[in-house]
Amino acid sequence: MKALILAGGLGTRLRPLTFSMPKPVVPLAGRPMVRHIIDPLPQEVDTVILAVSYMKDYLERYFQENDVGREIVLVNEDEPLGTGGALKNVSRWLDDTFFAFNGDVICSLDLRAMLEAHRKRRGIGTMALWSVDDPSAFGVVATDGSGRITMFQEKPAPGEEASNSINAGAYIFEPELLDHIPDGVVSLEREVFPHVLHRGLYGHAFKGYWVDAGTRESFLRAQRILLDASGGRVACPVRRLAGVHVVGSNLIEATHVEPSTIGPNVYLEGGARVGRGAVISDSLVMAGAVIGRGATISGSMIGPGAVVEDGAVISDTILA
Ligand code: GTP
Repeated sequence: MKALILAGGLGTRLRPLTFSMPKPVVPLAGRPMVRHIIDPLPQEVDTVILAVSYMKDYLERYFQENDVGREIVLVNEDEPLGTGGALKNVSRWLDDTFFAFNGDVICSLDLRAMLEAHRKRRGIGTMALWSVDDPSAFGVVATDGSGRITMFQEKPAPGEEASNSINAGAYIFEPELLDHIPDGVVSLEREVFPHVLHRGLYGHAFKGYWVDAGTRESFLRAQRILLDASGGRVACPVRRLAGVHVVGSNLIEATHVEPSTIGPNVYLEGGARVGRGAVISDSLVMAGAVIGRGATISGSMIGPGAVVEDGAVISDTILA
């Protein structure tokens, strides 16, 4: 079975970090973002197709250097074709039921259960649905009593939403869906789904967690969920953390950490350096980054080339 991951976006909301690395490889709680989709795929998925465009060479290098246990096929778009166009562009690879994912989705969806439900219903597709209190910023989906999707609303005005269920960006499709996608730049959500409802597009609700991790806030929210779930790991020898005050769940791989306060929700990637007296919370500090003595960092993503000066105060910021 094959899985398709949409990974060709520019990632503008994670700039300036995404000027030098594509969003799928930004490290999230110990692994590149895209690995959070690839690693939990059911065993029967032997091939993962990545629809790429922006910084495809970077992604190619990552998969050459890292064996993820499945065949990886990168299919390039010269120009980003949108979510529907990207699917159409990989048609030749898709000759049987396949998974498809928006590459930003970090969630607890049980893919086996969803596949079972899809096979029972025999529709053209099944869409994972997540329930939110305020769906006005999302693609809203209404279903009938049998779970069949009856209507889509893109970002409805508050009070006008047809339901609290939103498109979670994880799907199972039959190849027949590809026949309904026109050539060129096409949005799956706006230009394809509304036209295939008569063929049976079903919703699959799930519980647990779901985050579209494409912004700084949502990325750090996803990090918090994953770190809390893992109980907070310290990957470097504890003696190297002498004098470090650790608060809450964190992932500390960095080996050069002077006495400082770390946490909650901090991922210090291997190779990051933290100076004496620094206070870091709710942040990602990537390999190569240097946090100066007495600096305070919160709500931030600190990229591999960043040097934070001694005593600096950085909050709610992305540094490259
Ligand atoms: P922003 O620029 O910050 O909005 O990020 P983005 O470019 O990633 O766009 P968005 O978050 O809306 O995209 C959702 C998912 O679809 C991401 O995984 C993108 O990589 C992917 N995606 C968006 N547009 C395209 C496209 O034209 N082609 C391909 N292959 N993937 C896309």
